[in-house]
Parts: sequence; C-alpha cells; structure tokens
Amino acid sequence: MTPESDFSDAEIEAGRRLFAGEWGFLSAASSVASLPPGQGLEVAFAGRSNVGKSSLINALTGRRSLARTSNTPGRTQELIFFRGAGPLVLVDLPGYGYAAAAKSKVSAWTRLIHDYLQGRAVLGRVYVLIDARHGFKSADDTILDTLGKVAVSHQIVLTKCDQVSAADLSACVDATKAALKKRPAAFPETITTSSHTGAGIPELRAAIARLLSERTRPVNMHRSG
Ligand code: GTP
Ligand code: MG
Repeated sequence: MTPESDFSDAEIEAGRRLFAGEWGFLSAASSVASLPPGQGLEVAFAGRSNVGKSSLINALTGRRSLARTSNTPGRTQELIFFRGAGPLVLVDLPGYGYAAAAKSKVSAWTRLIHDYLQGRAVLGRVYVLIDARHGFKSADDTILDTLGKVAVSHQIVLTKCDQVSAADLSACVDATKAALKKRPAAFPETITTSSHTGAGIPELRAAIARLLSERTRPVNMHRSG
C-alpha cells in the first residue's frame, strides 16, 4: 500500500482541484442533537486547544477566515461544518485539553467530541493535530484511545512546523512514530504542516483526495450472460 505521506504528482493535482472551488459554512452544532444530517464524507480536525485546527482548515481551503482562529485557546466552541462544491465536508472541532474557558465548558466540548467521533456514520477520517513544538500530550492519548475503538481512519498531522528547527522537527516526527507503534489503528506516517508557510498543505489535500476517491469509487459489478 502507498504510505499516507507519499503522493504522486497526479494525486497532488487532484488534491489541489478538490480544494480549489468555493468553500462555505454549512452548520454549527453544540450538542449531538443539533448535528446536521450526515451527508457526503466528513473529514474532522481534532487536537488540543490552539494547536491550529481552524488555521489548517483555512490553509487547505485557501481562505483567510473561513474558520475563526485566535491567539487565545478555546476559540472554536462548537462543531463547525464547512462544505465545498462536492461531497466533502470539513469539520472543525473545539480543542480539548487546556482552554481559556470554564472547566465545565471544556469538559462538555470534550464529551461532545467523543460522542461525535463514536457515532458518525459519514465520518471518513479524523486528523489529530499535534503542535510540533510540544509533541504528544496525555489529552492526545485520550482521543487516540477513542479513535482506536471506533472504525474511523485517523492520522497525526504535526502543525506549526515553521516554529521549530529542522532537527527538532525530525526528533518530533521520530517520537510520534515511536508513540504510534503502540497504536496500530492509526496510520504509521505523519504529515508535517505549517498553515503559515503552506508546507505540507498540498500533501494533506492529496491525502484527503485519495480518501474521497477510495470512498466514492463505484463498486465493480461482474455480470455474466
Ligand atoms: P481552538 O479553536 O482554540 O481549539 O484553536 P485551534 O486549534 O483552532 O487553533 P487556531 O487555528 O485558532 O490557531 C491558534 C494560534 O496558532 C493562532 O494564533 C494561529 O495564528 C497560530 N497558528 C496556527 N497555525 C500555525 C502555523 O502553522 N504556524 C504558526 N507559526 N502559527 C500558527
Ligand atoms: Mg479552532
């Protein structure tokens, strides 16, 4: 199987095209009851508060402020759904772990995130974002435990790679790979990104385009007679 970090020129181009069109707000949900009806294929972005989830959605879609970002952790407070022209829906999740919000709020978001991840039939992949400056934290283990139990493919994306030296980035990639050895449900490769410089964004688009083509490929019918 081709690793989920290795893409042909044709796949990079397919990724570019997938995200080149218009993107807009679809809906927001603060409870499981208010989730929009599942349609198309959802790709969700999870991670600790301030790791850069909303910024990554903006970088992927080439929009400066499609998703709201902030210097203060705890900006995204609901599940926010964005749609493009095709079947793909991007889901910006509230951060878990530390946030500049009341503890009760953060624990309610965390519960909502876990309920969403466990019960969403149209959820095709979850990208778990890790800040390359900080690496894995215990809150990341909790989300990876949940994802390991449900049959949703998931992969680690390192963010803010512009903020670390090449040597530190490579150490972070190695440490992440080592941690993933204990987690066979996750892709063993990571994608390293920077929403500020655009590094890794074409590859992440290509990964999502590959997922979409795998999930929407017509079933081969063999008919006799
Ligand atoms: P919550 O919604 O609060 O959970 O945060 P989030 O994970 O959505 O993070 P957000 O995208 O709001 O970004 C948080 C801060 O990190 C902002 O100040 C961003 O400008 C900054 N940031 C995001 N991505 C990058 C990056 O690739 N490089 C650098 N240097 N800063 C980044
Ligand atoms: Mg956010």
